[in-house]
Order: sequence, then structure tokens, then C-alpha cells
Amino acid sequence: MTVVVLLGDGIGPEVAREARRALETLAPDLELEPHLFGGQAIRDTGDPLPPETLAACLAAEGVLKAPIGDPEFDAADVRPEQGMLRLRAELDVYANLRPAQSEGIDILIVRELVGGLYFGERGVREDGTVYDTMEYHPNQVERIARRGFELARTRSGKLTSVDKANVLDTSRLWRRVVDEIAGGYQDVRVEHMLVDNAAMQLVSHPGQFDVLVTENMFGDILSDLAAAVTGGLGLAPSASLSDGGPGIFEPVHGSAPDIAGRGMANPTAMLRSTALLLELGLGRGDEARRLEAAVAAALVEAPTADLGGRASTAEFGDAVLKELS
Ligand code: NAD
Ligand code: IPM
Ligand code: MN
Repeated sequence: MTVVVLLGDGIGPEVAREARRALETLAPDLELEPHLFGGQAIRDTGDPLPPETLAACLAAEGVLKAPIGDPEFDAADVRPEQGMLRLRAELDVYANLRPAQSEGIDILIVRELVGGLYFGERGVREDGTVYDTMEYHPNQVERIARRGFELARTRSGKLTSVDKANVLDTSRLWRRVVDEIAGGYQDVRVEHMLVDNAAMQLVSHPGQFDVLVTENMFGDILSDLAAAVTGGLGLAPSASLSDGGPGIFEPVHGSAPDIAGRGMANPTAMLRSTALLLELGLGRGDEARRLEAAVAAALVEAPTADLGGRASTAEFGDAVLKELS
């Protein structure tokens, strides 16, 4: 089995190193293939997603991706984030699963990942107006809604669909399609919630939620919020899945330029994304659970600075390895 590893920018290589060390111990038979991506790929080749990298991702069993992005490119025409959106679209990983758990809270955000505002028509008019547009085809809503219902069915049976149907036509389509799909899932209780209220409820009463399904941009914002409510961005993993092709497994957080190069990033989100790769990407649930348990032990034994501890990124990784061996 081949896994493409994308090292990323900023804290990316620091957290990716710990994931690689854990995988080498846990699953030595896996072929880990590093490839150029993001800011470093722009510097070396002018393209954040070089053709060789894309071809390797398409041919692999899964893609383990560290965060990309660098302030150096903030004002540039070619940016690392563009490579990321293209990679998601090329692999058609429309279902982005973002779990957030802590005491009394067990939330799964199911974020639509290859449509909406991120992929709509955009441009500049002659008068200087700049525009981005949000579009959804019913089929795009249907497939992500089905994922949401399927996942809700395996959990507590509650699905919250989040939209802005009081304002947006795309949201009214979203709500209609979700209601249509609901007919086939009588065992799932579905509720609709407006996104502004959902943000408030996630802070004030997070325990009420189980599975949330929502469009791309709303899911981006709400998943950082859900991470903050359950221990911080340093803990939050994600899995981006298609219908059968390789998935992308990456932290919810970014390249954290403010702490990059200091060896203090929390590698938990990257390690948990690695566990999701093992479980959902490679069908190796036993190893996934071993890794999750090792990370849980390291969180007690060697917490990093974001959690109020003193351990470095590498010391956290050492604690994980000790548990695994
Ligand atoms: P960020 O997620 O990088 O950082 C937000 C805050 O959280 C910072 O204070 C950072 O230090 C902290 N943080 C994040 N991850 C941490 C970790 N593992 N351990 C400890 N602290 C952590 O968000 P940002 O600063 O808005 O974005 C920086 C860059 O990352 C941008 O270029 C953005 O586009 C990119 N980005 C990439 C991804 C990705 O590759 N998946 C995701 C989000 C943002
Ligand atoms: C994420 C990130 C990306 C997104 C950016 C870097 C394009 O914030 O994965 O949450 O908005 O999807
Ligand atoms: Mn985000």
C-alpha cells in the first residue's frame, strides 16, 4: 500500500515528521512517498500542485497531508491554497469529515468540500468590482446529504443540516434536497438550523449536536469553532473522502506561521488524521485504534504549549512512539 505524504509549509514538516515516525513503527509495510506540494512547490516549480504530485496522489491508496500556506504568498497570484483546492477537486473528495470531541461533546461536522463559494464563478468587472459566487447543483447537495444521513445512522441518529435559507437560494435548494433524502432515512431525526444560530449554539450548548452537514464555507468556519470548543485546533483532524478513490487526510488547522520553526506545534491533529487514514483510507482499524490510544496517552504524559504543557513537538512524538513499541 502506498501513501503519498505532503509535507506542507510552516509547522507542516514539523508535525508531518511525527506522523511519519508513528507510521514507520506502527505499519512498517506501508510505502510512504513524499511529494512536493504547496509553498515549497511554488518556489521550486512555480506550481503548488506539480503534475507529478497529482499523478502520485491519484495512484496512491491515500494522501496524508500536512498544512500548507505561507504569508510570503498572501499577495501573490499563485498561492499554495490554490493547489489544495485543485487537489480536492481532482480527487473529488466531496465529503470532509471533521470530528470534535471532549467531555460530553461528540460532534461530527460533514462539510461539502468541492462546491459552493470556493468553486463558483469569480472575476473582476470593469468598474473594479470583484465577485465570488456560490453555486450548488442538486446532485452535489444530494451526495453530501446522503453521507450525512449514513453517518448519523451509525451514531445517535440525529442530523443537523446547517444553512442560511432565510437569505440564500442555494440554501433553500440545500434544505429541499435534505428533506427529500430524509424520506429514505426514517431512523434519523433531521433538523435544520441557520448558520448564525448554529455558531452560537456550538459555543453555548455544544452537547446537543451529533452530525452536522453543511456547505463548504459554513463548514470551514464552524469546524474551527467546534475545534476551539473541544480543546483547540491542535487536536482537530479531518478526512476528505470521495466515492471510492484515495482520500486526503489532514489537520483542520493551518501552517501556523506564528509558531513555525520553534518545535512547539501540537502534532495531535496530524496524528489523529493519520489514524483516520489508517481506518477510513486503508481499512486498517486495529492500527488506527492503537495510534489513537497512544496519542491519548501522550496527551496526558507530554502535553504541548497550546494545552498548557511544556513538551516540544518531538517530545510529544517520542511519547507516542514509546506507547507504540
Ligand atoms: P492556523 O490554523 O495556521 O493558525 C491559527 C492559530 O492556531 C495560530 O495561533 C496557530 O499558532 C494555532 N495553531 C494551529 N495549529 C496548531 C498546532 N498544531 N499546535 C499549536 N498551535 C496551533 O490559521 P491561520 O494563521 O489563519 O493560517 C495560516 C496559513 O495556513 C494560511 O496561509 C492559511 O491559508 C493556511 N491554512 C492551511 C490549511 C491546510 O493546509 N489544511 C488549513 C487552514 C489554514
Ligand atoms: C481548511 C483550510 C482551507 C479551506 C484553506 C487553506 C483553503 O482553511 O482546510 O479548513 O478553507 O478549506
Ligand atoms: Mn479552515
